[in-house]
Amino acid sequence: MTGPDSLSPVWWADGRLMLLDQTLLPTQEVVRAHERWEDVADAIRTLVVRGAPAIGVAAAFGVALAAGQSRATTFDGLLADLETAIKGLAATRPTAVNLFWALDRMKRVLLDARDLPLDRVGPRLLAEAQAIRDADIAANRAMGAHGAGLVPANARILTHCNAGALATAGYGTALGVIRAAHAQGKVALVWVDETRPVMQGSRLTAWECVREGIPHRLISDVAAASLMARGQVDLVVTGADRIAANGDTANKIGTYSLAVLARHHGVPFYVAAPFSTIDPALPSGAGIPIEERDGAEVRRVGATQTAPSESPVYNPAFDVTPADLIAAIVTERGVFRPPYRFG
Ligand code: MRU
Repeated sequence: MTGPDSLSPVWWADGRLMLLDQTLLPTQEVVRAHERWEDVADAIRTLVVRGAPAIGVAAAFGVALAAGQSRATTFDGLLADLETAIKGLAATRPTAVNLFWALDRMKRVLLDARDLPLDRVGPRLLAEAQAIRDADIAANRAMGAHGAGLVPANARILTHCNAGALATAGYGTALGVIRAAHAQGKVALVWVDETRPVMQGSRLTAWECVREGIPHRLISDVAAASLMARGQVDLVVTGADRIAANGDTANKIGTYSLAVLARHHGVPFYVAAPFSTIDPALPSGAGIPIEERDGAEVRRVGATQTAPSESPVYNPAFDVTPADLIAAIVTERGVFRPPYRFG
């Protein structure tokens, strides 16, 4: 299941956006069809679809849905409707720049379509969303090929959160590098951080590893330090939600502590991300907006409450790893080393 490709959480079928509901994994595989951009926005907000590239792809299709929903009879009317949709989709999650990158790209295509017959604009937008999706899969495969070169034989690799097929249009970024290295027979073991509080590691990355037959072992996040101290981690690779022009990288909360640990123990820490995750407008990570999510995520494990309802919570969804802790950033255009210049 899951899309026309081998494993994809987001695809278009019969005029509807199909999303594999990631809130239900690993116990249920449910695909939901979306016909309205408002429902796509909800799906992004509630993590039905998540992961920086997947959010961007879903939002692009959301704009195509909005074109179908519009009853406008002039281009300016359609533009007004789609601007409302783009604003609504952009307001869902603040950190992953892929969302804004994809929406900007859709807006540019829309403006370029001003002189087309009105009934041609929707199909043009849909074609662009499909192109964004296809390009993401191709970028991930290229990243996998570049990144696998960083992986030594018999590697024990630690990863955090889910930067796999589920977080993208397919194949994955950090887990794409691991997939490619696994295909070359170089992966002895993947240490999968469970990734509190939303458990993307245990629910999603472990699920992908089981499906693909990638040897892995699940650990609680707090186990990483002792594994590194005992020499059981050869490298760390994670994805990214936004990379500033100097290489500072926002990713799932807990990534920064792994990078500090890796530096302390002499373990290389790598980031894998497509160019759509680089935000050239931000000189450093200080300007990256960090999403704060509902405290209820921290007061429970799954459906079980583990803290008093009255306890106030601080729940940042992401942190920023300074560029000087990152040994290399793997992109579809190759492997970048510090000092980072992406121009
Ligand atoms: O809150 P999430 O699950 O959307 O966070 C996802 C991550 O932090 C991923 O590591 C990142 O988006 C890269 S996905 C290829």
